Amino acid sequence: MPIVILHKDGEILRDEVPAKSNLVVRAGVRKFPYPDFKYRCGMGKCATCASRIISGGEHLPAPNWKEKKMLGEWLDRGYRLACQLWIEHDIELVQDVNLADGRALALLAEDKAS
Ligand code: FES
Repeated sequence: MPIVILHKDGEILRDEVPAKSNLVVRAGVRKFPYPDFKYRCGMGKCATCASRIISGGEHLPAPNWKEKKMLGEWLDRGYRLACQLWIEHDIELVQDVNLADGRALALLAEDKAS
């Protein structure tokens, strides 16, 4: 079974999940990573679940059209929409940017300016 490591507020949360688990679906039924995982729509429309993949990203499928649309350049920075991912291998991730609000775009602009 895949091991999921979630970094949150300086803590490292870790648990095994069944193969082909979706972390947003799991959180929705109050299983790990609930209550420590941010999500809202579960359908790739809000970006609340955006997560930076620290390790294990090489095992994930290529981003789908919803991820491309919602994440744009954040994909290049290692972010994925957790609600669009079914975990089959160990993965380590963090939700360190709120891409569901306008500040994410401002961060990107600041980075480009510096
Ligand atoms: S929960 Fe809304 S995009 Fe993933």
